[in-house]
Amino acid sequence: MEVDVLVIGAGAAGMMCAIEAAKRGRRVLIVDHAAAPGEKIRISGGGRCNFTNVNATPKNYLSQNPSFCISALRRYGWRNFVAMVDAAGIAWHEKTLGQLFCDGPATQVVDMLTGHLRQTGARLMLATAASDIRRAGNGFTVLLSPVAGKAARRGSAQSVPPSGPAAPMQVSCASLVIATGGKSIPKMGATGFAFEVATQFGLDIVAPRPGLVPFTLAPEQLAALAPLAGVAVDAVVSHTAPGGRKTSFAEALLFTHRGLSGPAILQISSYWREGDAITLSLAPGVDVFAALKTARVANGRQAPQTALAAILPKRLAQAIVEMTPGPERLADCNDKHLRALDAAVNAWVIRPNGTEGYRTAEVMLGGVDTDELDQKTMAVKSLPGLYVIGEAVDVTGWLGGYNFQWAWASGWCAGQAA
Ligand code: FDA
Repeated sequence: MEVDVLVIGAGAAGMMCAIEAAKRGRRVLIVDHAAAPGEKIRISGGGRCNFTNVNATPKNYLSQNPSFCISALRRYGWRNFVAMVDAAGIAWHEKTLGQLFCDGPATQVVDMLTGHLRQTGARLMLATAASDIRRAGNGFTVLLSPVAGKAARRGSAQSVPPSGPAAPMQVSCASLVIATGGKSIPKMGATGFAFEVATQFGLDIVAPRPGLVPFTLAPEQLAALAPLAGVAVDAVVSHTAPGGRKTSFAEALLFTHRGLSGPAILQISSYWREGDAITLSLAPGVDVFAALKTARVANGRQAPQTALAAILPKRLAQAIVEMTPGPERLADCNDKHLRALDAAVNAWVIRPNGTEGYRTAEVMLGGVDTDELDQKTMAVKSLPGLYVIGEAVDVTGWLGGYNFQWAWASGWCAGQAA
């Protein structure tokens, strides 16, 4: 079989790329080893798909080359994707911090993309494994095989008749697009395929690690914090990199049975490295010292945790006092102790012992080194015809629709060139 463009990976980036290339009249085949396309889109945003962010700018992305994403995000911005969603009649709303979500199920976005695949004539093959990639002239050959025990599933993608190869077949293509995403959530079919291809062709890789992931705590820390499981607060969580650069996020924080989670924690996890500490401010903007001093004057007989419970959830107030032992009555607490309580609330330094890893991480940091790629087209500079897009590239967004925006933008750019 011969096509102009073979896209491996029918996720957000791959489908966008296939649609755009097919619009240009290219003969496009897009394959995925999963039984359904866009599985991460389907489960994203709690089932409502946070499909973009109106504040998406390069500063919302982590990469060894922070300016690499500028061109793609300019060429295909959040407004472009909103226009596509609007044209499909998908209702959406802005939730918070510029995050746009579907009003209805995330499968609408999958259906929209598979609908475009069908309209543009791009062919989708599911339950299809790609292997044995070879350079052939100016193009490539790839072996496509049916995935044993997996049948292409219509799922919600009614608009595309999915089909996989009945037997192994070789495909020749002028352009080969690697859109196989990152390693997070292996249970959903995530693989390190992009790294295998990069290694095969001698491309540099930025070491991958889980991002947007909950922290775990050491057993003794966990034992002390066990009563807090389920407590959530609006917090500011900060991390200072070895070079002194401080990053902070003001969002919700959740204490869990394993450690710390919630949006503020997921955000900071992308900046955290093994062994680093983070600082929690659990009552941001509140002068806890002043509040405790006022409470001491007003009612010195009350316990410090009672006064703190006016600021924090009761269980958290109790835990803070247990972590900062002192007199039982506020009247007996000197200013030094009140300052210690203030620091425990608003400058709590905690050292996670790890993260939950790829099992629950929303994204993978690192990927194919952007130095290998053309920022306008995502083409591999040293190997004409090869493209890498989406999460497989060393560009990772914050939580909040930024990662899909990168997938759409990088997929769109490659689709104009492949
Ligand atoms: P993506 O992972 O979407 O697609 C890769 C495709 O390649 C998959 O279909 C996979 O099956 C296929 N594949 C992998 N290896 C293969 C192989 N060897 N052969 C063939 N096919 C292969 N982001 C956001 O902006 N807003 C949100 O609301 C969310 N929510 C969210 C929730 C959860 C639980 C997760 C895990 C992630 C998110 N994200 C998110 C992140 C977002 O899903 C992610 O960044 C994009 O899906 C990345 O798009 P890609 O197309 O690059 O990879």
